[in-house]
Amino acid sequence: MVMKTLILKVNPNRPALSKIRLAAKLLEEGKLVAFPTETVYGLGANAFDESAVKKIFEAKGRPLDNPIIVHIYSIEQLYELAKKVPKKALMLAKRFWPGPLTMILQKKACIPNAVTAGLDTIAIRMPSHKVARLLCKEAKLPIAAPSANLSGRPSPTNAKHVIEDFKGKIACIIDAGNANIGLESTVVDLTSKRATLLRPGGITAEQLSKVLAGLRVHAVARAKKKTSVAKSPGTKYRHYAPKARLILVEGTKEKAIEKAAKLAKHFAEKKKVALLILASKKRLQLKGVIVKQLYQKSSIAKHLFALLRELDAKNVDIIIVNAIDEKDLGLAIMNRLRRASSERVSA
Ligand code: TXA
Ligand code: MG
Repeated sequence: MVMKTLILKVNPNRPALSKIRLAAKLLEEGKLVAFPTETVYGLGANAFDESAVKKIFEAKGRPLDNPIIVHIYSIEQLYELAKKVPKKALMLAKRFWPGPLTMILQKKACIPNAVTAGLDTIAIRMPSHKVARLLCKEAKLPIAAPSANLSGRPSPTNAKHVIEDFKGKIACIIDAGNANIGLESTVVDLTSKRATLLRPGGITAEQLSKVLAGLRVHAVARAKKKTSVAKSPGTKYRHYAPKARLILVEGTKEKAIEKAAKLAKHFAEKKKVALLILASKKRLQLKGVIVKQLYQKSSIAKHLFALLRELDAKNVDIIIVNAIDEKDLGLAIMNRLRRASSERVSA
């Protein structure tokens, strides 16, 4: 069924209240609204409305066992959603909220099962983007929102990406330009004795460790193996993936770049190939290969998903990319690259 999708263009710093109120009203009516956050765009529904939340799974083609993050704008709302709010959660909230941090807590019974995929825990985040905050506030509701991409595709970092995936399928898209961070929030599980990092993101493990002594980085956060944990069901699916075959070359930077270039040259004889060089200042040119380079980690994070979509639009067959170190934002970048990759080779 095709529906009319209302596209509301707003100023990211001074969003028109009338437009945000209109979107909030759609949420109250049980409709889906895509909205910008500082990480990526989200596909939102009233978290207390089970049938609205089910529409998210339908629109995305999302596996039903993958739970959704609930977005709030005030600390008080934390108590409406979580059964217990541990001291650690308040410490983290004080330091990192609003911002790109999601906490897993024990859920209250009133949360519809669809949101948490039947788990007894709930993921909660307070976004810092003005538009996301105002939308949560005006709707007076916690908003359940996964990234606004079709399941498996790269996350959307601007409204164009959302339009590509959802025009005609959802009620409204709020367009406030590019997302600043470009990778999803950091997910930390606070339900076991030791706080555990499940998904690296906008807040780094190093930053978290300063507040949370003894933070454990779960193996799924590195995404080295294609395994999953019951704790974070989303981790078992190939994700963020372009249509093209994506080959990730691991190893020390110089060697990885050298090998990536060699592979690109080899495949370019028969296929349309893109070479993505990360974290190297040295400019590279290869005949018959689309070469893209990103240097700083913050800029890799910001542009990675858009670049994967851009290369898909160019009908590239193979994308080859070099690994970078896992310090700071590097951990989140490597997590996304590994999960987006169809193959990994070592240099
Ligand atoms: O930055 C973000 O987090 C974006 C924006 C829109 O806020 N949202 C986002 O949502 O990335 P999504 O659905 O694409 O990723 C949510 C991740 C998944 O890996 C999911 O499995 C995990 O959070 N998750 C959600 N609820 C959970 C829970 N109760 N326990 C463990 N993991 C959970
Ligand atoms: Mg997602």
